Amino acid sequence: MSGTSADAAARLAALAALASEAEREIRAAPDAAALQQLRTDYLGRKAGRLTLAMKDLPGLEPEVRRAVGQKANDLKAALERLLAEAEQALAAAPGDHAADLTMPARGSWRGAKHPVTIVLDRITAIFAELGFVRYVGPEAETERNNFAALNFPDDHPALDMHDTLYLGPGIVLRTHTSPLQIRVMEAYRPPIRVLMPGMCYRRDPFDASHAPMFSQVEGLAVDEGITFVDLKATLTHFARRLFGPATKVRFRPSFFPFTEPSGEMDVECGICHGPGCPACKHTGWMEILGCGMVDPAVLENVHVDPERYTGWAFGMGPGRIAMNLFGIPDIRMLHDADVRLAAQFVDAS
Ligand code: DAH
Repeated sequence: MSGTSADAAARLAALAALASEAEREIRAAPDAAALQQLRTDYLGRKAGRLTLAMKDLPGLEPEVRRAVGQKANDLKAALERLLAEAEQALAAAPGDHAADLTMPARGSWRGAKHPVTIVLDRITAIFAELGFVRYVGPEAETERNNFAALNFPDDHPALDMHDTLYLGPGIVLRTHTSPLQIRVMEAYRPPIRVLMPGMCYRRDPFDASHAPMFSQVEGLAVDEGITFVDLKATLTHFARRLFGPATKVRFRPSFFPFTEPSGEMDVECGICHGPGCPACKHTGWMEILGCGMVDPAVLENVHVDPERYTGWAFGMGPGRIAMNLFGIPDIRMLHDADVRLAAQFVDAS
């Protein structure tokens, strides 16, 4: 019967050799199946090499048994750990069984323009082609520029629609971008072609189609010989550039103190294209702007000679236009901090 110390040394050396062989093979294993095979080869309960090496342990001298048994147990634990690590590493690494390398990477959040900004950029670009420059001014506006200079008589009912906050004596949160017409005409002489975007404030309810704060774009053209034909042609051209070449438009008479005559322009509803739907209140049309020939009284207020010069102006709501273009059903969505709205417009421009 074996069991001498020389025998013990030989067995420990054999175990060490087995260990390094196993380690080398585990590290070289190309896939999970190979690892599984190695597990069976070394640790298999019936014919595993380590199992076999321990098979006659019970018959050994106690001292040898203890030394060899201890070493074999350590080795078994070490192999288990190595196998588990190798399995994990293979699962995490790209391989034909682990991940589809042809799958496109998940894009990182790039941010997106707000739909109103997208529309504003498009509007500005179309008018830039027609020679209109961009001009901006303060949201805290003088009462005179916001009302009196635009020919609103004191106590006129038209003022009712323009209730706003007074920030101090004679200073209001502007209710429209029209006071920018006054600023431009006081700063520059005709010919004038200018586009003026900005935020406006009114004491309006906050419901599906109104907001107390909204974006507006004002346009103004003043020159010698400008007529209503220029207004209609320019605005029709604009609508077709923005909404598509076959878009129907119509003009309806209206009233604004600073234009005479005044009108409103409707475009065919972008949602139902005619027959009527909830978005266009079943009319088939969407009002997108007010317009008119600049009232001679306004020209006089800014010392432009109405005998020599005429002009036309418009004010439109890019929020409404964004709703029409993109099918956004409720104006409040434009004011919501929920980025999922804007996220849908990452690729729009
Ligand atoms: N300022 C008007 C409003 O907010 C819109 C408007 C109408 C502007 C006619 C104009 C215009 O320049 O000519 O209700």
